[in-house]
Amino acid sequence: MKAGFVDKLVAKLDRLDPSVVQSIVDRLREEKGFFVQVFQALREGVILIDGGGQVSFLNQAACGFFGLDGESSVGKNMSELVRGMDWSALMEQPHVVSRDMEVFYPERRYLHFYLAPIVDRDMRSGWVMIVNDLTSDRAETQAAIESERLGALTMLAAGVAHEIGNPLNSLGIHLQLLDRKIRKLAAGDRQLLEEHLSTARQEIQRLDGILKQFLQAIRPSALRREKVRIQTICEDVLRLLEPELSARGIAVVMDLQETLPVLDLDPIQMHQVFHNLLRNAAQAMPNDTHGCITIRIDSNDYELKIQIADNGMGISPEQMGTMFEPYRSTKEGGSGLGLLIVRRIIREHGGEMEIESREGLGTNVSFYLPITEKKARLLPRADEIIEINP
Ligand SMILES: Nc1ncnc2c1ncn2[C@@H]1O[C@H](COP(=O)(O)OP(=O)(O)OP(=O)(O)O)[C@@H](O)[C@H]1O
Ligand SMILES: [Mg+2]
Repeated sequence: MKAGFVDKLVAKLDRLDPSVVQSIVDRLREEKGFFVQVFQALREGVILIDGGGQVSFLNQAACGFFGLDGESSVGKNMSELVRGMDWSALMEQPHVVSRDMEVFYPERRYLHFYLAPIVDRDMRSGWVMIVNDLTSDRAETQAAIESERLGALTMLAAGVAHEIGNPLNSLGIHLQLLDRKIRKLAAGDRQLLEEHLSTARQEIQRLDGILKQFLQAIRPSALRREKVRIQTICEDVLRLLEPELSARGIAVVMDLQETLPVLDLDPIQMHQVFHNLLRNAAQAMPNDTHGCITIRIDSNDYELKIQIADNGMGISPEQMGTMFEPYRSTKEGGSGLGLLIVRRIIREHGGEMEIESREGLGTNVSFYLPITEKKARLLPRADEIIEINP
């Protein structure tokens, strides 16, 4: 509808036939409805704010981003609807404001918005706000940074292994030579020197162990896959841990799906996965509680799901963000490499892992392994599809 049309119409209104006025009003309503539908279909949030800072329209995407109800939000102030931002300062700007923001409710999202002043023909001012969701882009960037960091760490480790491995080897040989010479000494002198020698040897072994474990955590290793039943691996590990579990009164509950597929896995590496995760679960139990570890294994058409849940001390939200960082351990004598090793092995098997935890209540570690016979699968519907309810 052209500008000026409405003015001409108003001037002529008393001379027009009521049926003509009716058809014009219908046309206006249809056009408005059409634009509202277009706005509702947009993935971007659109919010129209009038001169007084009150919302006059917002589409479904905007409602979703900020957890608002479309109807009841109209007529309210932006500072009332989206708290925590200095909206009046933003609206004081005479030009377009383009900023990122973090939203905590109804879920954590990173948004980018443009806030542009608009002036209509009657010189009444207002603003239009266009909002984009950056959450998945940010997650991808974060994952890229993490993999880059791990890549750099791998390179560094390879260098360190080379540099430390050789002198360690040479130290070991020299200690052996010393040992031979000490044996030729008189008994009194020998005893004292042997003690020093044995300490030096133990320390060298410890260094060697740390080095090997570190390399195991970050170095990709060729999988030696064979057809194995995952429940057999889990039972083997439980048998190994049994003395420690029963000494601490920790119960284990197994909840296995009746028939589970046999997968092509590296049994030794999978053994390590269960060993690390079950030990973590056991170590999370304070000594005076009735600890219980529940192991659930089930499968669907395309993957096997393994859950190891404990009712231990849980993990604090701050600690959750750094769990996979090397050497982050809350335990005396812990290397802080266990989870890194576990995740590497699971990823090399084409799987992924998840950790959920509630501080003081317990932790649930799940991992998924793809069933290799399947070469393709239908993905679930993308959750960002916005339902259009005209
Ligand atoms: N089931 C769990 N419950 C509570 N905290 C856990 C659990 N699993 C892991 N953690 C926390 O994550 C940290 C890192 O775990 P990770 O297995 O990588 O190293 P670690 O257990 O400390 O050392 P290591 O595995 O070498 O003995 C632990 O120190 C602990 O704080
Ligand atoms: Mg551990």
